[in-house]
This record gives sequence, structure tokens and C-alpha cells, in this order.
Amino acid sequence: MSNTVNTIDEDLVAEQEAKRQYEFIELCKEQYKKDVEAAGRDLKFHVTTFGCQMNARDSEKLAGILDAIGYVEVEEEKDADFVIYNTCTVRENANNKVYGRLGYLQNVKKKNPHMKIALCGCMMQEPQVVEKLKKSYRFVDLVFGTHNIFKFAELLYQSMTSNKMVVDVWEDTKQIVENLPVERKYSFKSGVNIMFGCNNFCSYCIVPYVRGRERSRKPEEIIAEIERLVADGVIEVMLLGQNVNSYGKGLAEEISFAQLLERIEKIEGLERIRFMTSHPKDLSDDLIAVMAKSKKICKHIHLPLQSGSTEILKKMNRHYTKESYLALVSKIREAIPDVAITTDIIVGFPGETEEDFQETMDVVNTVKYDSAFTFIYSKRTGTPAAKMENQVPEDVIKDRFDRLLALVQQHGREHAEALEGTVQNVLFETPNEHDDSLVTGRLDNSSVVHVKASKDLIGKILPVRLVECKGFYYMGELA
Ligand code: 5AD
Ligand code: SF4
Repeated sequence: MSNTVNTIDEDLVAEQEAKRQYEFIELCKEQYKKDVEAAGRDLKFHVTTFGCQMNARDSEKLAGILDAIGYVEVEEEKDADFVIYNTCTVRENANNKVYGRLGYLQNVKKKNPHMKIALCGCMMQEPQVVEKLKKSYRFVDLVFGTHNIFKFAELLYQSMTSNKMVVDVWEDTKQIVENLPVERKYSFKSGVNIMFGCNNFCSYCIVPYVRGRERSRKPEEIIAEIERLVADGVIEVMLLGQNVNSYGKGLAEEISFAQLLERIEKIEGLERIRFMTSHPKDLSDDLIAVMAKSKKICKHIHLPLQSGSTEILKKMNRHYTKESYLALVSKIREAIPDVAITTDIIVGFPGETEEDFQETMDVVNTVKYDSAFTFIYSKRTGTPAAKMENQVPEDVIKDRFDRLLALVQQHGREHAEALEGTVQNVLFETPNEHDDSLVTGRLDNSSVVHVKASKDLIGKILPVRLVECKGFYYMGELA
């Protein structure tokens, strides 16, 4: 049996598991009432998300359960009785940030005896992290990982009814438990998981170890979720997966990512579809064709390059070359001339020479990305790259990083300037933090624009003239 096909038995188990979790939500509610009585006031929660959009979506699931139990959400962790950090471990500095914040939280907890601290997410999947917490961070109350996040209500109940540190981290899972409560951050847009995990094992990356093997959700579950979201006011969805282009592998029904998009496009009332992330090795002609003719799919592809050197790409286990990547970009641009292309690049992978780096600069100069996330290589214990020789010295990396950043910023500015004066559709998203008369929105290509407009427009898509380009964002007016 394949790793990802859910048998009827497994479907049944997943359904029963969801029911069990709803029973725990009821138990938590009763306990919550007792705790409120003891405290003499409502109890508050705060979720901090580190890392990617996948984590942001998971945090909405955590918040959904806490909200269902009765906890009230607060902006700042110091005002909360239940604080949960949903952690990331893709780079070492993400881990350091969490330890730093825990130090601060320990002091806050001393002043609030009702306070509980929970940690979950990718960092908890690393055994050495959990050991460290058990040894030196005894004030943490609950620790769980990425594979059993669906058990949050159950674990929370255990924690609410005990004074001991509750730790439950699984190595892997095949289960996808559907339909648990979710509290969305935005009423008009939402992330939607279409798959979990990653099978690519890029040699630098810890994700396959902490997020487990790739598992696709069934198309009917995805469609049903989006239909529910649309009925609830959502007009934009972001389809989430580590490698959306390999969606569908292992499902009983044969379906590709392009076919899934075609089905999602048909959902009435849905206006914008985004997705991330696309692995270049799996991006199909069908996907390009579907995007080219679509009215709803944003003309934006995030296409991580990582390195422009074929030699380094091989060591990274990326399964494409400099030439095949550039050919793919040309093919995409030919079919979708106004497409925005963005990327991720790692500087200082072990063995990267100045010549290798120049290959990266060459690709960047050829593609001229709309924007790029640039990262300094971070050694992750347990990955093959951590054991590679010729780790690049820090000062060399820093110098390359600065040169790369200057180049990607220059291209970013040029792309932004090219749209100055044009009229673009904008989804109005949030009141402007600094100026009350402005509302901030996003173009199809994700660029930010500030517009003098009424807050009533939030959640709507309207044409906006991009009056002035301010480098990486625009000032606009309703067209
Ligand atoms: N060091 C630096 N960057 C990394 N990424 C993943 N692993 C590492 C690492 N060990 C970057 C990749 C990926 C993005 C999400 O994070 O560029 O696309
Ligand atoms: Fe990591 Fe590569 Fe998977 Fe992305 S595709 S999550 S970089 S292993």
C-alpha cells in the first residue's frame, strides 16, 4: 500500500478522531468555566506564529479551538493566560528567537499564576530541542509537534487538568483529520492546505524531517472547504503546500495540481486564487496553460531558485540545472507575458565558490525577479549538507549576500516602477497602521498599495491607479 492513499478504514479512523477531538473541546469548555470561576475573570490567549504560511494556517486552527472553548484572544502575550508559540526551524536563527522569547515569558509567568505556556510546530520535531526544554525550560506546560496538531484539544485538556509538563511529539503520521474549528485572521482571505509534508529532501533542508512525508488532501475535501469559506465571505484563497506541483500523488483518484486548480476556478464567488510553493522540477505545461487562461489565478509564480550553479544545485539535490531553470522561466513568460516571478535564494551553501555565486547572479540578472527572499545558508543538524566539507566562511557569505541583495532590490524597484501610472485590481485588506485615512491592499502580484479610501472597502477588489511608486510599494487612488 502506498504511503499516502487513505483506505476506507483510515478515513473512518480520521472521522472518529475528529469526533473525539470535539468531545475534548466540550471537556475543555467545562474546565475553562471552572478556571474562570477560580480566576474571577475571563481567561485570555495569545498565539505567536514563527515561519511560513503553513504555520500561519496551523495557528488559525489553534486559535479556532481556543476560541471554541471560550478563551478570548489578546494582542500581547503578557496579557494572556494561555500563550502558544507555533515555531519554525528552517534556519537556526528561528530557533534562537524562540529561546529568547521564552526567557522573557518566564518572567511574565512569575507574575501570573494562571499562565500556561505551550510550544508546537516544526522546532518541536527535533529531539534535541525537546530534551533541552525538558531539562532547562521546566516552566513550559505543553509541547507537541506538527504531526499531532489535530490532537490540540485533547492535549490542552490534559494540560488544563495537570500541573506537569505534557509532552507529545510524533515522528510521523499518515492521518489527515478534517473539519476541526478554525479562526481566520482575515474574513475575506484564507490559506487552504492542499497537501502536507515534503518528499524532496533538498540536502540543506530540515522540512522533510519535521513535516514528514508528502500527503495530499482529497480534492473533494479541498473544494468543500473552499466552498464553505466562500459562503463565509472569503474571496481569495492561497493554496498551500511545500511542493504544490506534485499535488495528487498517492491519492486514489488520479488528479494533478493543474486539474485541481481548474476545479477550484469553477467555485462561484471565489475571485482570486494564489498558491505556493512551486518546485521548478515539477512545474507542468498543463499548469502554465491553466494559469494562462484563468481569470482567477493570480499571475504570480514563486519559483525557488536556491542557486544558479548547476554544480551546487546537484549537491542541493534540486533535480534541475541552471539551463533547465532558465528555459522554464522563458516558457512561463511566453505563455503568461505579465506574470510576476519571485524566488528564494540561499547564499553560502557548502562548497559554493565565487564562480558558483556568479552563476546565481547571472540567473538573477537574466530572470530579473519581481522580488526575492535571500537567505544565508544555515547548517541544520541531521541534513546531508551539515556534513559536507568546505563550509563557506562567514565574511565571504556576508559579502556575497550583500551583492545579491543589492541586485534583487534593483530589479524589484524596476518592476515596481514599470507599473507606475497603470490601473490594477486591488484587494483592500487592512486599515493603514500609520495613517487612518489610508487602506492598504494588494495587487495580483502581491505588491502593497496604500489608498485614500473608506474602511468599508476592506474585503473588496477594486481598480486602483498606481499614482506613485515608492520603491517597493505604491500610493494609489481609486480609479
Ligand atoms: N539555510 C538557509 N535557507 C534555507 N531554506 C531552507 N533551508 C535552509 C537552510 N538550511 C530556505 C530555502 C527555502 C526557504 C523556505 O527557506 O530557500 O525555499
Ligand atoms: Fe525543503 Fe526542498 Fe522540501 Fe522546499 S522542496 S521544503 S526546500 S526539502
